[in-house]
Amino acid sequence: MNQPSRDSNLTWHDGEVSRQNRTDTLGQHGATLWFTGLSGSGKSTIAVALEAELHRRGKLSYRLDGDNIRLGINKNLGFSAEDRTENIRRIGEVAKLFADAGVITLSSFISPYAADRYGVRALHDAAGLPFFEVYVECPLDEAERRDPKGLYKKARAGEIRNFTGIDDPYETPAAPELTLRTDQLSLDQEVEAIISYLIERGVLREG
Ligand code: ADX
Repeated sequence: MNQPSRDSNLTWHDGEVSRQNRTDTLGQHGATLWFTGLSGSGKSTIAVALEAELHRRGKLSYRLDGDNIRLGINKNLGFSAEDRTENIRRIGEVAKLFADAGVITLSSFISPYAADRYGVRALHDAAGLPFFEVYVECPLDEAERRDPKGLYKKARAGEIRNFTGIDDPYETPAAPELTLRTDQLSLDQEVEAIISYLIERGVLREG
């Protein structure tokens, strides 16, 4: 990998259009919802349903999804601890840019390490952008029973190494803004819980 750029030789270049201008244009505030949880826990399913509901409400949102991002911008990353950290660091930066643009950004990544998730939160905090961590909680045996991509089966068979929950860690969020037990709630209930939360936090209005 290239050497990191030397901060001392770089200067942030401001434009003439402010975040408030963009907020006025779009009629909404940007924010990042960060879905974290095991593979198969339901992160992407919730993000897809939420995106549809936000669209119905006339709100602009955009999904950043583990598999999609790893097919493109992060196609050079694997699943070592170092690569997962870099995966989350890049997506954190991308999510911040989207939120700054005024978009309600829905990020769905396992993001197994608390320190990496904290880094993304800190990035948003420093930029004055709302960041909501949503723990998509699902017991491992239920995620494994669902096994939508057949990957748990492969991991158990030893065909995939370092699979989260099997032979790689997942660090449970200590203080997420929201926790959704996807083995106990319906998809509609999950979307409703997030919408209510966003209304409570002033990101959305009633109706
Ligand atoms: S993260 O750990 O770096 O946040 P990310 O969410 O981008 O992971 O990608 C996870 C997706 O990659 C899983 O949903 C699964 O489809 C696939 N995958 C392939 N290999 C692994 C692995 N070893 N561990 C976890 N997921 C994997």
